[in-house]
Amino acid sequence: MGVKKIIAGVISCLLAVETVGCGSTGGQITSIRIGVSVYDQYDTFVSELIEHFNEYASEVSGTADYNVSVNIDVYNAAGSQTTQNSQVKAMLQDGCDIVCINLVDRTEPVTIIDMAEKKNVPVIFFNRELVEQDLERWDKLYYVGAKAFESGIMQGEIAADIFQTETSADKNGDGIFQYMVLEGEADHQDAIVRTEYAVNTIIEHGVQVEKLGYAIANWNRAQAQTKMAQILTQYGEQIELILANNDDMALGAVDALKAAEIDREQWPIILGIDGTDVGLAALKSGEIQGTVYNNKEGQAEKMFDLAFCLATGKSLEGLELENGKYIREPYTKMEGSNIAKTE
Ligand code: BGC
Repeated sequence: MGVKKIIAGVISCLLAVETVGCGSTGGQITSIRIGVSVYDQYDTFVSELIEHFNEYASEVSGTADYNVSVNIDVYNAAGSQTTQNSQVKAMLQDGCDIVCINLVDRTEPVTIIDMAEKKNVPVIFFNRELVEQDLERWDKLYYVGAKAFESGIMQGEIAADIFQTETSADKNGDGIFQYMVLEGEADHQDAIVRTEYAVNTIIEHGVQVEKLGYAIANWNRAQAQTKMAQILTQYGEQIELILANNDDMALGAVDALKAAEIDREQWPIILGIDGTDVGLAALKSGEIQGTVYNNKEGQAEKMFDLAFCLATGKSLEGLELENGKYIREPYTKMEGSNIAKTE
């Protein structure tokens, strides 16, 4: 099977192209090679994270603390675990010193783990979290991401706060927040956990809720628009709140409301998660009322630092890994007074 290489973010300052991994002169490492595979290069959040990973790598590489040349190869698995497995095989053959994997199917990491272990190449999984038992399969496996429940709680807090402070949010004045949910992939840790925690948090804050419906839109703006258009024909103006598991789906809801030519004053409260560039722009323009910042910069930088230390044999001490294996960046609420911080 052909391997798709999307971005060759090659940051090579000291040496000509490496054909094997860790380059060294006299035992001193002079270059490293990092292989990255993303589940879908068109995913807005993941592509912004990788963009920052490349930017950060080129910014720091060659500086005093990162005094080796760094080669980064980024592959797009395009939604196929089989393709991703072949990509990892290719990365290992190419001599990558470390691989960073955004699993297509977070329940299927074993083939990758086995291949990497045979070559003694550490694996950093990111954003799509495998179960702990799988991460325990070998001591050179790591995970970089965030705590899904935290984003759900924050989204729920924003919703409760809006309901309790803005009377117009309760469109029919019945004292109950009628909501619907736009969910990410059915088996993704962030979809399951965000929905549960958001709704429970709203209730814990003393707001009565009524669920009108939900739709799985797989993190995708166009799918969310289609699903939202269907829901609008069923529930129309009864909807007072849309909890979207990510910003892209919140924006899909915005697209559907615009296409249905519903007056802006009649729009429900719309909340996302991520704080992607488009998400933050929609927050600033008032199309959505809140989002929760998923710190892609933090995740990208820490993933690079971890990759760098693992590939060069530096100590991991300063990286403050949880249980020696996890890096989880905190989320931040983005609403009202906080919007200014996004300038
Ligand atoms: C992000 C989504 C993204 C998904 C991909 C989530 O953490 O919030 O926007 O689509 O990861 O795995």
